[in-house]
Amino acid sequence: MRLEAIPGRGGSRLATNVNFHFKGQVAVVTGGSMGIGGAAVRAFAEAGATTVIADLDEKRGRSLEDELRKEGKDVHFFPVDVGSDEQMKRLMEQAHALRGRLDFLYNNAGVAIAGEAVETSDEDWHKVLNINLGGVFRGCKYAIPYMRKQGKGSIVNCSSTQALNGFMGWAAYSASKGGILAFTRQAAVQYAGQGVRINAVAPGTIMTPMNEKIFEEVDDPEALIRLWNDAHPIGRFGQPEEIADLVLYLCSDAASFITGQTFVADGGQSVRGE
Ligand SMILES: NC(=O)c1ccc[n+]([C@@H]2O[C@H](COP(=O)([O-])OP(=O)(O)OC[C@H]3O[C@@H](n4cnc5c(N)ncnc54)[C@H](O)[C@@H]3O)[C@@H](O)[C@H]2O)c1
Repeated sequence: MRLEAIPGRGGSRLATNVNFHFKGQVAVVTGGSMGIGGAAVRAFAEAGATTVIADLDEKRGRSLEDELRKEGKDVHFFPVDVGSDEQMKRLMEQAHALRGRLDFLYNNAGVAIAGEAVETSDEDWHKVLNINLGGVFRGCKYAIPYMRKQGKGSIVNCSSTQALNGFMGWAAYSASKGGILAFTRQAAVQYAGQGVRINAVAPGTIMTPMNEKIFEEVDDPEALIRLWNDAHPIGRFGQPEEIADLVLYLCSDAASFITGQTFVADGGQSVRGE
């Protein structure tokens, strides 16, 4: 299913009027090779930040790095598995070494493995928890020491509306995303006095390769698309750039009094009464 073929998607890229200025600052985006992470990489780079794409997918990561460098952006791809403690430690060392600072971290990498509790294998449970929740933990663990040394830093963790409401068939995924919200609040309180703000975003349905895969697997993608569009009072899915703008806002000084919060971006889905 090509993105352009999806009704209600509304154009190739939403124009944004928001201008952030992050020149001289360093941003790390995990899972930055594509999807929401890819849009965040582009947004940080457009705002002038030295931007690190940290991802397992080297081919797509290098291709985004090339594309943005051709536009004159300061972008660096580092291969990393957020499930590895050692690799995450090295990632933050490498990112810090670029300019001797580390200002922003968007803990975005995640995997979606479907399954209700009684059909989820122990292996899948551990995989989802280790990547989604463990990746956020490791990102914070190794970025915060640099940020508190500077006396300033901002981290955004990627949760989901699945952390807030029960959706059929996603036991491990929703547990991992709920854990991210609890961890975000604890870490925010722990490090607020040292200048580090930590918030979470909870996207609704966003059109990314993660969801494109689902459309490829169902018999009637058009029917599923209509169903998902209708589930959103705004009448369409979100676009990756709409989450990226929120992430940049939370990183910016415009959000200087905000920490420990969850920001839902779901086209009104979670507040609709029936
Ligand atoms: N797309 C949605 O509708 C939606 C909704 C709510 C939350 N989210 C969350 O947003 C985040 C991004 O989702 P997306 O839809 O852009 O996904 P995506 O699958 O399109 O992209 C995810 C990226 O993360 C990378 N990645 C996966 N495992 C990794 C690992 N172990 N180490 C490093 N990189 C890894 C992938 O290579 C890929 O580049 C995820 O945390 C996801 O759970 C997505």
